[in-house]
Amino acid sequence: MAKTALITGASAGLGTEFAKLFAADGHNVVLVARRVDRLEALAKELMSSHSIQAIAIRADLTEDDAPQKLHAELRNRGIDIDFLVNNAGFGSNGAFLEQDIERELNMIRVNVTALTHLTHVFLADMVKRGSGRVLNIGSTAGFQAGPFMATYYASKAYVISLSEALAAEVKGKGVSVTVSCPGPTETEFAGNAGNDKSQLFQSGLVAKADRVAKEAYAAMMSGDRMVIHGLMNKISTQSLRFIPRSVGQFIAAKLNQ
Ligand SMILES: NC(=O)c1ccc[n+]([C@@H]2O[C@H](COP(=O)([O-])OP(=O)(O)OC[C@H]3O[C@@H](n4cnc5c(N)ncnc54)[C@H](OP(=O)(O)O)[C@@H]3O)[C@@H](O)[C@H]2O)c1
Repeated sequence: MAKTALITGASAGLGTEFAKLFAADGHNVVLVARRVDRLEALAKELMSSHSIQAIAIRADLTEDDAPQKLHAELRNRGIDIDFLVNNAGFGSNGAFLEQDIERELNMIRVNVTALTHLTHVFLADMVKRGSGRVLNIGSTAGFQAGPFMATYYASKAYVISLSEALAAEVKGKGVSVTVSCPGPTETEFAGNAGNDKSQLFQSGLVAKADRVAKEAYAAMMSGDRMVIHGLMNKISTQSLRFIPRSVGQFIAAKLNQ
């Protein structure tokens, strides 16, 4: 029987790539984001190139009740979610006190609150059925504090911590939780966050979205707890264990400016 993946943030970047990977493997997809025109075009493309069902659902994940509504809508349609990809997210760049606080709070609502709520409702269904997989998109930003992207880094530290804890809690229940930690990746993220001119994104170490998604997808399917994309990202995140925290923060501050 065909399985179904719910992908948040499927209207751009990594989310679109995840949708293509699930469809190519014969899975049905539920595409979620605000730009429903893009989701509908992608759903059409995936249904015509693969024998799958694809549906587009508009949801603004800054809204408190969006996860519950999504869960209820899928239940009403009789759709069980076998794979949940909590991919929607965004950042902001610059000194914390110069940021619009509503944007920062919305970032926490999307990157943290909605991800937690969606995981809670869909993981519960998966555990009941004794099968299912969750893929949360963290970031290499989640391994240290990040001056000039402070809220974003903190939000991704939460995603990593939550995901690893849940992976341990669901062990042996037929369900897996994976966190993917990409470094800088070619998507709409940097333009939206305003850090496309930062040293990080100008470093020449910006990965292709399709490769990052492919690696994360494979890790989820294998039930791995974590995947860090690329050798440099693996080295830089792991080396943080051996240097003073202040040095990691200094490097992050430089890269974010
Ligand atoms: N690109 C990088 O360098 C990088 C590195 C590490 C981690 N990540 C993480 O990767 C994930 C995907 O980002 P991306 O790089 O693919 O960026 P992207 O191209 O900007 O895509 C972000 C997606 O999130 C959705 N989204 C944003 N706000 C939303 C809201 N309020 N409600 C519903 N959906 C919302 C957007 O859809 P709509 O605007 O249509 O709603 C879009 O589909 C994020 O969690 C990001 O933090 C990215």
